[in-house]
Formats: sequence, structure tokens, C-alpha cells
Amino acid sequence: MKKKGKTLVALILIFFISLSTVSCKNGDYKDKKTIKIGVLCYDERDTFLRELFSCLKEDFSKYESDDLKISLNILGSNNSQRLQNEQAEEMMDDGVDVLCVNLVDRTAPSKIIDKARSKDIPIVFFNRELVDEDLMQWSKLYYVGANAKMSGNLQGKLASDAIKNNPSIDKNLDGKIQYVVMQGQPGHQDSIIRTENSVSKILDSGIKLEKIGTSIANWNRSSAETKMKEYIDQYGSDIELVLCNNDDMALGVIDAYNRSDITESSRPLVFGVDGNEVALSAVINGDLSGTVYNDKESQAEGISKLAMKLAKNENLTDLNLIKGKYLIYGYYPITKDNVEKYLKR
Ligand code: GAL
Ligand code: CA
Repeated sequence: MKKKGKTLVALILIFFISLSTVSCKNGDYKDKKTIKIGVLCYDERDTFLRELFSCLKEDFSKYESDDLKISLNILGSNNSQRLQNEQAEEMMDDGVDVLCVNLVDRTAPSKIIDKARSKDIPIVFFNRELVDEDLMQWSKLYYVGANAKMSGNLQGKLASDAIKNNPSIDKNLDGKIQYVVMQGQPGHQDSIIRTENSVSKILDSGIKLEKIGTSIANWNRSSAETKMKEYIDQYGSDIELVLCNNDDMALGVIDAYNRSDITESSRPLVFGVDGNEVALSAVINGDLSGTVYNDKESQAEGISKLAMKLAKNENLTDLNLIKGKYLIYGYYPITKDNVEKYLKR
């Protein structure tokens, strides 16, 4: 009887142990899964976004382990919202856990939102900010970006400091600074707000400005070169300042001067935004007077953290989202004096 009892206990124990290993194995199997993240961007040729994506890849890979694989699929939408809608639909049908979207047209997110909602797939929008009402359409929509007003103010401050420290910038000594603006894509928050605030910051500092012209160069280096060449052909060395909504356009402006016969001492101050790799070198060699750092490292970290929490259905409290929806990062001014610090990032 005693022996029988012991055998029974042993059998029951074995039963429980084997049950628990099965359930443990099941648990392992469940955890050892693949999280699928889809990323769409308006145009894969965009310099700033390419640099941001290299941070993003690194950030997501940090979440991988023996038990977790992350499949990250990044696609460009060739500047077509229609194509992007199709890509988003395909990714969602393919079962992504989270979709990260850099809209082509930031005023047209509805098709993507409707589909996401019907499939219960959260979306992290980034860099091209949708209007508040659109973000409020559904609870699982988020936005990661940067404070556009701050980038404009900082660019304006860099320009006004440089002008004050260097009176010879006013080449024709008329007490006014003749300037040109190179704008990014029309309708983009960073084009509108950067231009507005950069100019008003310079005016607020007491400097008088005279606008020669504003051109749209769509964030693009060669478009900016073409536009700047037209100004140079018309105004020669009369331009004293060029404010550019991003670095690629600032580099295009510098290209145009390099292909002109205007000597270095007769060229304008040129400012950009982003602090991309090539632009940082241009700050070092003095071609670019200054730029404003668009903090891709923090933005990528924010996107990946938020996306991972959403994929794992984790609580978002410690992210301190603004209005429960937004992660907004700052900008930093860069001149020859502090550029080294940004090269090392
Ligand atoms: C801006 C950036 C530009 C361009 C644009 C794309 O924030 O400064 O260089 O990347 O986003 O939406
Ligand atoms: Ca002048």
C-alpha cells in the first residue's frame, strides 16, 4: 500500500512535470516569435530619412534575442500617396504587427487609417505631421517628430549672430540683408514653419531684411542648384544670405556658387537644417555657415520604442506621450565651433 501510494505520487508528479514542460515549451514557442514591422516613407532617396533609417535598423535590432526575431521591411513610396496606400494595404494584409508611416501627403492619411482600424494594426506616423484631428480618428494612431518652430528659430538665431559678428556680410552697405529662401515641399510643416520662424527671428534681432525671392526646391540638392543658378544669373553677387529649409538644398546652393565665377569673398551666408553627414563636412570647411541638428537618433529611438511596445501590447505610460499620442524631439544649433560633437554621433 505504501509502495503503491509512492508510485501514484511519482506518477502524478511526472504527469505534472511533463504538463509543465509542455506548457513551458508552448510558452517558449509563443515568445520565440517574429515581430513584423512595416515602414513606409514618401521617397527612399531623401537624405535625412536615409540617415534616420540606418539608426532605426540598429535600434530595432537591439530588441532581437534568441526568442525574438524582428522582421523590418522599409519601402519608399516614390512620392505617390496612391502607391503608398497600396503598399500599406499589402503590408497590413501580410500581417505586420505595427506600421510606421512617413506620409507622402500629410493631409491624406484616411485610407491607411481606415484599413489599419479594420485590422486593428497600430500606426506610428513620423516626420510628416498629420493634423491633430486625423491623429484623433482612432486610439491606436501616434506621431513621432520634431519641433518645427524650434528649427526655424534656431536657424534665424544662427543667421542673426553671424550677421552681427560680421558686418561685411552687408556687401553693398545699404543697411539691409538681401536674402533668398529655398523651401522644401509645399504643404510640409517643416517648409512652412521653418521659413516663417527663421525670417521672423532675424527681424526680431533688429536686422533689416530685403527679400530677393523664395523658391521651392522640394528638399532636393539638384533642384536647389538649378534655382540658385537662376538667382545668380540675375543678381550676380548681390545676394547676402540664403536660408534653406534643409541641408541638401543648402548644398545645392553651394554647388551653384561653386559652378559660378563668384569669388568666395563675394558669396552669401548659407544656412541649412538637418546636420546630415555631407553638410557637417561643409560646416567644417566653411562652405556652409551653419545648420540645425535634426535629431535622427532620438527620433529613431522613439519610433522603435513605441513600435515595440505596441507590437507587444505593453503599457505606454513611461514614454510620456504628449496628449497620449505624440513624441516630439528638439533641434540643436551647429556651427564650426561645435560641429565636431555631431560628427561623433
Ligand atoms: C525634414 C528634413 C528634410 C526632409 C523632410 C522629409 O524634417 O529636414 O531634409 O527629410 O523632413 O519629410
Ligand atoms: Ca545689403
